[in-house]
Amino acid sequence: MGDSKRFTLFAQYIFKNFPIQKYTRIADIAGGKGYLQKELCKLGYIVTTYDKRHHHIKDSFLKFKYKYFDKNIKEEYDLLIGLHPDEATDVIITEAYNRKIPFVIVPCCTLPTITKYKGSSNYNSWILQLKTYAKKLGFIVEEYQLKISGKNIVLKGIFK
Ligand SMILES: C[S@@+](CC[C@H](N)C(=O)[O-])C[C@H]1O[C@@H](n2cnc3c(N)ncnc32)[C@H](O)[C@@H]1O
Repeated sequence: MGDSKRFTLFAQYIFKNFPIQKYTRIADIAGGKGYLQKELCKLGYIVTTYDKRHHHIKDSFLKFKYKYFDKNIKEEYDLLIGLHPDEATDVIITEAYNRKIPFVIVPCCTLPTITKYKGSSNYNSWILQLKTYAKKLGFIVEEYQLKISGKNIVLKGIFK
């Protein structure tokens, strides 16, 4: 069970770092039940949550796509995000690169999909590999720590 403050605090981080006028349309990838989408919508963003899970909170204004996000998704977004996105983590970085838009992720489990994982299976090593991958693709990467228990490192990538 993750820290329930993660949704509000991550939404606030996004609000501070990505002005709504420029980054209006967000893809919330691996968004699970939609709690993060709900927080972002309260702040004014237009958000679509991608996840295969059908079990989500019931709010008519929330938008869900019951599928995994990958290179076949054609909808346009200004920002790709993932909170504890499991095997979507390196997919988000890669798709942000393909679209030349920023990404923000809070990685959790070491579950590479596109990259080959070379480190030991610990959090710091996973974070380092993700940062190195994003920098190689041409992103400027910044790190921040959310004030939550558990996996709390935010990686923000802005395309140069
Ligand atoms: C640990 S859960 C996190 C859910 C939510 N973000 C949260 O913090 O509660 C990881 C989720 O990633 C989803 N997932 C993994 N790969 C995905 C992909 N490529 N696109 C969309 N969802 C994906 C899984 O179905 C799962 O619901």
